[in-house]
Amino acid sequence: MALLRLGFLASHNGSNMQALIDACKAGRLDAQPAVVISNNSESGALARARQEGIPACHLSGHTHPGPRALDQAICATLTRHQVEVVCLAGYMKHLGPLTLAAYRGRVLNIHPALLPKFGGEGFYGQAVHQAVLEAGEKESGPTVHLVDEEYDHGPVLAQARVPVLEGDTPATLAARVLEQEHQLYTETLQKIAMGEIMLEGLKR
Ligand code: GAR
Repeated sequence: MALLRLGFLASHNGSNMQALIDACKAGRLDAQPAVVISNNSESGALARARQEGIPACHLSGHTHPGPRALDQAICATLTRHQVEVVCLAGYMKHLGPLTLAAYRGRVLNIHPALLPKFGGEGFYGQAVHQAVLEAGEKESGPTVHLVDEEYDHGPVLAQARVPVLEGDTPATLAARVLEQEHQLYTETLQKIAMGEIMLEGLKR
């Protein structure tokens, strides 16, 4: 079967995106990175994409003032690169209604906590892990889920669990979870590529 064409949206470092690109290159993921979009022109994600020779686009409120124009540009970019599945990888913006409608059921996100706990607006990066520690949780771990109109919402596809250890700081917990994020995102996408997880919106 042809490789699954992935489109990435990322705002910051892009380590999840890189893990997926590396898995594609190593043959552990039957997919092909088609395009990387970032709202942040200085993001590590765009730098990594250029380094890897993957089309890299900066699309934001600066390049496209007005949410509709931006939504149209994102949707057109994904379509032009024949993206089949959209992977949010630390993307800190909402996707617009046009893009969500065009890719309904085919947009995935990774979140560094066991949703539905510790998700939603403001739950990003260290704030998530800080909240987990403050709540006295004994375990945490990443969630891969389908994206809908709300932040960190939508059906859960996969989760992995990691223990919260005594003496953990947000940084140490984040590092332990991030390692699992890279694995879980790769495994989940490979299941999609193999047809073990069927996405309603994906015609292959
Ligand atoms: C990851 O920990 C991801 O789970 C989180 O942003 C980080 C991005 O890291 N996403 C969210 O918090 C979504 N609400 P990366 O840029 O190194 O992949």
